[in-house]
Amino acid sequence: MTVDHDAGQTTSLYEVGDLPPLGVVPQRMYASVIRPARYGPPLKAFETEVVDVPDVPPGFVLVAVMAAGINYNNVWAGLGRPLDVVKMRQKRGAPEPFHIGGSEGSGIVWKVGEGVRSVKVGDHVVLSGCRWEEDDPAVRLGRDPMLAPSQETWGYELNWGSFAQFTLVADFQCHPKPARLSWVEAACFMLSSATAYRQLNGWPPHNVEAGDVVLIWGGSGGLGSMAIQHVRRMGGRPIAVVSTPERAEYCMRLGAEGVINRTEFDHWGSPPSEGTAEYRRWNEQLRAFGRKIWEVAGEKVSPRIVFEHAGSHTLPTSMFVCAPGGMVVICGATSGYEAHVDLRVLWMRQKRLQGSHFAGLRECRAVTGLAERGLLDPCLGQVYDFDSIGLAHQHMFEGTQACGNLAARVGAMAITT
Ligand SMILES: NC(=O)c1ccc[n+]([C@@H]2O[C@H](COP(=O)([O-])OP(=O)(O)OC[C@H]3O[C@@H](n4cnc5c(N)ncnc54)[C@H](OP(=O)(O)O)[C@@H]3O)[C@@H](O)[C@H]2O)c1
Repeated sequence: MTVDHDAGQTTSLYEVGDLPPLGVVPQRMYASVIRPARYGPPLKAFETEVVDVPDVPPGFVLVAVMAAGINYNNVWAGLGRPLDVVKMRQKRGAPEPFHIGGSEGSGIVWKVGEGVRSVKVGDHVVLSGCRWEEDDPAVRLGRDPMLAPSQETWGYELNWGSFAQFTLVADFQCHPKPARLSWVEAACFMLSSATAYRQLNGWPPHNVEAGDVVLIWGGSGGLGSMAIQHVRRMGGRPIAVVSTPERAEYCMRLGAEGVINRTEFDHWGSPPSEGTAEYRRWNEQLRAFGRKIWEVAGEKVSPRIVFEHAGSHTLPTSMFVCAPGGMVVICGATSGYEAHVDLRVLWMRQKRLQGSHFAGLRECRAVTGLAERGLLDPCLGQVYDFDSIGLAHQHMFEGTQACGNLAARVGAMAITT
């Protein structure tokens, strides 16, 4: 099962939760794998398998994963749409007929490739999800690497994510693990907190300013729980939207100024045809939602920033309630990626609809720094065992997940936090 120290032999495969001696790389590893033949809901798509441990090219690092964060992107990967990630990589010449997801995690540097100087074997690290070619001309010109043509998401567009005993990352994806956090806490917050940080602080002049009302959809979710804390710390006034009283309480405990229960309204998605009775009803609900924000804020003030990720169900409302000159900033589409935008509202009120995707290295270091200093709660919700990574995604797919960020134990199987 592990290593026979007396005989000086190592095995080619270790049980999940066991680790070889530091720096010894086994040939095979357990991984939670998605294959095209199983594309579908997460419980069908994910399966624990044994696969080869990948080689470590120059500039790359093999990390023994202690815990992995769970995110919605691998619900999409398991469904095989809108992108068939395995087919896309195979078209480019990648040999693996499978996908190992997981776009964040915590672990121990186990092997470094040629030329790596920023980390060494034994370092405790937190992994960030976006990768780009360091010789990409846009990167060399000093532009934001998140806008570089070579930028892709590890554990989604790129293979060998954190849902395995070992993961392959570029050296710059490794950040010092905040010492005050457990392995699972450290694994769960990078993706959501850095994404939220960029949404709220990366699109000037629409950075959160003191006194700004910020409407946060899904306030109790991974992104939302991070956004509430960032907005508070930046001096803004977070108003969260949720679907249950328990989630409302969670947001208030995190620092929301007020909460709206979206189940009190039913005008979601695209508006019906104008001039119809259905449209008049839809429009009345839309305006009632706007008035609800004023009621919660205690004054007639609209959000300068609307923090979006729900997509087609909510975008028409977000665009309407956003203050003139304000910004709707969106990074996802849980309810669908085709959304109605009333362009009259966009131009007449001079609003901004801004896309935002994960984060650059500075934003990643900002959030690990905040966590290190105790200024950001990682909001660890439910923790799953390695074999339940499919179940964790299923809960997310069905919207029945716990509040906050989710994680799965990998190397940290033997511990409870
Ligand atoms: N581009 C990026 O870099 C990036 C990074 C992170 C996440 N994302 C995307 O952002 C989305 C959210 O991620 P997450 O980690 O926060 O997920 P999460 O933890 O599952 O939270 C999502 C929240 O959205 C709310 N929600 C679900 N359906 C909704 C609907 N129809 N209308 C309004 N609210 C709805 C739910 O709250 P209530 O039911 O309580 O309202 C839920 O708590 C996902 O689609 C994810 O893929 C993108």
